[in-house]
Amino acid sequence: MGTDLEKIKEEGLLAISGAQDFLFLEEAGRRYLGKKGVIADFFDGLKDLPAEERRAAGQKANAVKITLQEAYDKKRAQFTIEERQKIGAEKIDVTMPGQAVESGRLHPLTLVLREAENIFKSMGFEVAFGPEVETEWYNFDALNIPEWHPARDMWDTFWLKQGNTKNKEKILLRTHTSPVQVRYMEKHKPPIRIIAPGKVFRYEATDASHEIQFHQVEGLMVDENISVANFKAIVETFFQRFFDNKNIKIRLRPSYFPFTEPSFEIDVSRGEGKWLELAGAGMVHPKVLTAAGVDSSKWQGFAFGMGLDRLAMIKYKINDIRLFYQNDLRFLNQF
Ligand code: PHE
Repeated sequence: MGTDLEKIKEEGLLAISGAQDFLFLEEAGRRYLGKKGVIADFFDGLKDLPAEERRAAGQKANAVKITLQEAYDKKRAQFTIEERQKIGAEKIDVTMPGQAVESGRLHPLTLVLREAENIFKSMGFEVAFGPEVETEWYNFDALNIPEWHPARDMWDTFWLKQGNTKNKEKILLRTHTSPVQVRYMEKHKPPIRIIAPGKVFRYEATDASHEIQFHQVEGLMVDENISVANFKAIVETFFQRFFDNKNIKIRLRPSYFPFTEPSFEIDVSRGEGKWLELAGAGMVHPKVLTAAGVDSSKWQGFAFGMGLDRLAMIKYKINDIRLFYQNDLRFLNQF
């Protein structure tokens, strides 16, 4: 009998003080101290003992019960304290300043493009798009640049593998946004007022002012009575608003493009005597109107193509075009 109690005490203490958490502790408590627990069992068994042993055994069992109960209470108190400390440590201080979330931002070219779009939209222009992979027809022939024409050398071209194109047409990465003029006129009857922004590609060496990919904004206006004067007014208004400077002047310098006649380079000045070349332009060549299915005896118009990267470089005083394409956060985070 005595050894039984010793064993119960030892095992009970082990279960109670070894409990890893509240659940284990309660389980041990139920097992040893509960109504149907080990000690209660032991008391039940006392009635089978001879009367002279009963008293002593009962006293011993009581002592064991008290020891286990004390161990249980102590352990429980310890868990309670630990639990409170844990809650204290996890407490959230809602007045503490938060951590700022790093937010994304728009690329400088996107900013400049959106601004250009808004200015032209306010003058009644719509925005049109064309594919970056173009056919030889739209990039060259329809723009009055047949295969033998020396002007093709003006655009160093990335030719692509032919693949499954219809009629074995040659395909390329468009060297300018001018093919969108033709694509748009094929689908829409004049009067037309569009700009066509997008990526263009040139097969050439890169340096601070040349990249193999850059962006242009093409402009096209076709109507019955369009003159160079209309063109000059619209483009000058655009540059004045874009650079937020009423003193901006533009000058048209004679130039050559096979798809315009006459052709100009557009130079822009802030009035300090310095002129910057920002776009190519001209009156749409009748052959281009004809190639796109527009009656050139009735309709005429102007077109221009300006370098968006150039515009952004001037606006934000950036001296290397390659920065736009390197995704260096030290650069991008400035906008
Ligand atoms: N496409 C010409 C270029 O890339 C620019 C241009 C566009 C010139 C429209 C005239 C008219 O150089």
